[in-house]
Amino acid sequence: MQTSTPNNMLLKRSVASVWHPCTQMKQHETAPLIPVAYAKGCWLYDPDGRRYLDAVSSWWVNLFGHANERINGELRKQLEELAHVMLAGFTHRPVVELSERLSRRTGGELGHCFYGSDGASAVEIALKMSFHYWRNTGSPEKTQFASIAGSYHGETLGALSVTDVAIFKDTYAPLLRVGARVPSPDWRLAAAGESPREYAARCAQALERHLEEHHERTAALIVEPLVQGATGMAMYDAEYLRRARAICDRYGTHLIADEIMTGLGRTGTFFAYEQAGITPDFLCLSKGITGGYLPLSVVLTRDSIYDAFYDDSVARAFLHSHSYTGNALACRAALATLDIFDADDVINANRAKAARLSSRAEPLARHERIRNFRNTGMIWAFEIDAADPQIGRRVHEAALAREILLRPIGSTVYFMPPYTMSEDEQDMLVMRTLDIVDSLQ
Ligand SMILES: Cc1ncc(COP(=O)(O)O)c(C=O)c1O
Repeated sequence: MQTSTPNNMLLKRSVASVWHPCTQMKQHETAPLIPVAYAKGCWLYDPDGRRYLDAVSSWWVNLFGHANERINGELRKQLEELAHVMLAGFTHRPVVELSERLSRRTGGELGHCFYGSDGASAVEIALKMSFHYWRNTGSPEKTQFASIAGSYHGETLGALSVTDVAIFKDTYAPLLRVGARVPSPDWRLAAAGESPREYAARCAQALERHLEEHHERTAALIVEPLVQGATGMAMYDAEYLRRARAICDRYGTHLIADEIMTGLGRTGTFFAYEQAGITPDFLCLSKGITGGYLPLSVVLTRDSIYDAFYDDSVARAFLHSHSYTGNALACRAALATLDIFDADDVINANRAKAARLSSRAEPLARHERIRNFRNTGMIWAFEIDAADPQIGRRVHEAALAREILLRPIGSTVYFMPPYTMSEDEQDMLVMRTLDIVDSLQ
């Protein structure tokens, strides 16, 4: 029988009053919620002092650890000056500085930033902007979007329309726009003897065939550059992006890079698309942009696209808004995050950290029960060979019992640690994951 400790009371109150995201709430009858009282660095602590190593960066958002002194300090100062003001008709220093610095990160090619709150709102903005651009420039028939098989772009209706993960999408199918799905360059799908690059080129040919036929109605192709996260950390060769860029140019179709998960250094470069030597027409960022502190998203786009909205006519303007667009506190957290990238040469430092973790993880990569061990930048993933459809849940629970937070996607286990994870913590993560894999029946 459960005792009525303050913790248990909190859990009861939570299931009685909070509808938790992405959750069948009935499962909490047997799998209790985990109360988090505070967090520091890579660790989450419950009120009784139990701790969990945050190996998934709290849903892929945290970059520099929890309660980071530098981000905290900047936020405290910002709080004394300005927390929020509406961005229509007003502006403020943090949003201007952030826009300038993000644009510089694209080499100035994407000159304007439009802000939202969560990732899905950025995707909605990019889709609407692309369609509206074509309408403003005399191609109103471009109303369709293409996305990649296994794509994930968020849960709102527009974002879900370009998503291809059945468990999230199928129920809402009657509410969604029909879009086109092109083959995924995920290298696990390559034919025997075919390299990831050759397979990526083959998938690009399929994209070309699609656009050849449908370009007149297609406004944009949306991609998750290099890693398709929510479908199970599917990784692919940059060749696909190189070719997709050229194909989109050839057929007058925008390329939207959804870097909500892959941006901010996660794949080893500041933006994943850099590895293909291209620039998208729209770039969606969120998650890590505030270091995992506050909800903020942003869509960067080319000035030539911005210019198509610049007119005396209000109807030609992009009349989209969210109340918290460009929130000053969130922008300050983002500026503090960019400061850390600059001051600590994070991209280079991560290279060494990633190489170390990969070498420590070799026993995992070689393990007889593990398939497709893979790594891109600061993401590692593998499948566990198991007939049990509940394997992911079992790994999650076994990991919690070993002070590790893992959140497998089906049979895919992945590590997406904060960049500040120490060598000892890396070793703990690998050793305990090995122990879990060994312990599975
Ligand atoms: C690639 C990608 N796009 C969009 C989203 C949606 O972001 P949010 O959950 O903040 O709405 C996610 C979330 O995981 C994502 O990984």
